[in-house]
Amino acid sequence: MRVLFVCLGNICRSPTAEAVFRHRVMQANVSDCIEIDSAGTGDWHVGHPPDQRAQRAAAQRGYDLSALRARQVCATDFERFDYVLAMDRSNLHDLKQLHTGSTGAMVALFLSFAANATHHDVPDPYYGGVDGFENVLNLIEDASDGLLEHIYNNFSEKDY
Ligand code: 4NP
Repeated sequence: MRVLFVCLGNICRSPTAEAVFRHRVMQANVSDCIEIDSAGTGDWHVGHPPDQRAQRAAAQRGYDLSALRARQVCATDFERFDYVLAMDRSNLHDLKQLHTGSTGAMVALFLSFAANATHHDVPDPYYGGVDGFENVLNLIEDASDGLLEHIYNNFSEKDY
């Protein structure tokens, strides 16, 4: 089972989702079965580590983003990954432009897996304050729990 998280720059939201979901998967003891990555639709930050504010906010909750480096999403990601999950509707739109093939990847909004899904989008925190990064973490933690539950409910061990 392979999961790719996608945002615009791959330095705030999707690396946060990668680290939070990886943490959940480790806690559930299924790291061997689920591969996790993240990417951006844009190329401005390729090779850069996550934004310092995102790293700090995540570290306060026990998630380490420091080893991650940004990359841009590419057409082969739709062949490689089972789930390609967008942080907002703009990212989803851009992904659908790229996903022209007939591969089986599920391309969807990440927050569609959140139990308290009152939002469609994980709001872009890049131009805002610290509160934005806390909000990002709250939404991502909720959706990560829902995604893991969804994977458990929909796949048996042989599918992983
Ligand atoms: P992200 O946030 O998509 O959550 O990584 C952003 C990072 C950088 C920019 C925009 C959003 N930017 O315009 O450079």
